[in-house]
Amino acid sequence: VTSGRHVDPHGAGPSPLPAPAAPLPPVVPDAVRRGWAASDSLFDAICTEAMGARAIPLRHPAVFYLGHLPAFAWAQVGRGLLGLPPVDPELDPLFERGIDPEPGASPLERPTMPGVERAVRYRDAVRVRLAEVAGRVAASRDPLAPWIWDVVVEHERMHHETLLYLIAELDPSQLRPPVGSMVAVAGPAARAASWSPVPSGPAWIGSSLEDGFGWDNEHPRATVHVAPFELRDLPSTNGDFLAFVEGGGYRTRSLWTDVGWAWRAASGLELPPAWRRVGGEIEVRSAFAWHPLAEAAGWPVRLSCAEAEAYARWAGARLPTEAEIARARWGDRPATPEARAPSDLRAASTEAVSGLPRWSERPVGSDPRAGPFGHRDLVGGLWCWTSTRFEGLPGFKPWIRTYPAYSADFFDGEHRVVAGGSWATHARLERRGFRNWYRWNYKYAFVGVRLAR
Ligand SMILES: [Fe+2]
Repeated sequence: VTSGRHVDPHGAGPSPLPAPAAPLPPVVPDAVRRGWAASDSLFDAICTEAMGARAIPLRHPAVFYLGHLPAFAWAQVGRGLLGLPPVDPELDPLFERGIDPEPGASPLERPTMPGVERAVRYRDAVRVRLAEVAGRVAASRDPLAPWIWDVVVEHERMHHETLLYLIAELDPSQLRPPVGSMVAVAGPAARAASWSPVPSGPAWIGSSLEDGFGWDNEHPRATVHVAPFELRDLPSTNGDFLAFVEGGGYRTRSLWTDVGWAWRAASGLELPPAWRRVGGEIEVRSAFAWHPLAEAAGWPVRLSCAEAEAYARWAGARLPTEAEIARARWGDRPATPEARAPSDLRAASTEAVSGLPRWSERPVGSDPRAGPFGHRDLVGGLWCWTSTRFEGLPGFKPWIRTYPAYSADFFDGEHRVVAGGSWATHARLERRGFRNWYRWNYKYAFVGVRLAR
């Protein structure tokens, strides 16, 4: 997630919010503690000496996220909601600020990060403080109080995906794959993709607080009429994309937008970001290892929006819109409170340590679950680039006063909505109203392409 600019909570006043169904317990909620355990297991996958490495030039090294997750939690719960002082006057502000990968931003501007040991001590100190104040949160009459742990949990879960795609940029020798987890499922696609029509009708975008927690960009829920269209029933794979590469797609100016071409040329991109050539052979990166293309041929191809658009043009197709994907995923079923439970397109997650069933892509079509019009892999593979620019829904208001800039900072025309969810997305974030976005040339995230026409 390209979120992370946290500004002082002065922008927006509280809004009247419905009360939660049950009072919060006076302890740190289970979901928060499960999130902490998952964070710890993810950081454990990175060798200590690699924690300070800047795997992605425009993002901080992993040690930043070690401190950022607790810093954010305290900024929301301690400082933001309860008006308490920092846990550490030096580290609170240092760890609070995330990065939006803007082209041209200088990596040299980033502050020096503390070492891992100091970051761990800070993390533990924040967790102790959060436990100490949990009773005050439960007793608070602030209308934001019932939701503040949701803010913390979903932020933490979103950053797990950030961490996993950061892991995918590190050299495998710097990683310790989680023991016993399924880190790669090799093979071709289960079958060839075909066009599957989607009839016209409504799509519901976003959520309502009456149903449960949702971020500012989800409110108020919008209804969009979708005209009939066709959508591939599977995402495009590495195997599919090879034809674009071998057909000169990266060298054909007419396939690219002006800015896309300029960026491609400047970055020297000639293969998707997760591919490399080794001695004439193509290899594809999973989170923890490199694989021969033949092993990865059936995985959805991971790429930037600029590449996805060029590929779609080459294929005589286009990217779908956010509303089109919502319609393909949910059909005519109106958004309802019960639809907010972790998506019924995904088997109930174990909520085990990571909350992830696998730590890897797998061949498209191997998941039997399908949307109402027969589309597979709408979640659980990669997010799907859409042509929809990220912006607020009609009536948008940044209602989370402790985090007013969560979305509004990114309503700049440069960010696109990505739909669905990836293998690295926690089941909780596959809830119906959740919206996600990345910059059009951000090439590190777990996002792929599904053709529409
Ligand atoms: Fe963040």
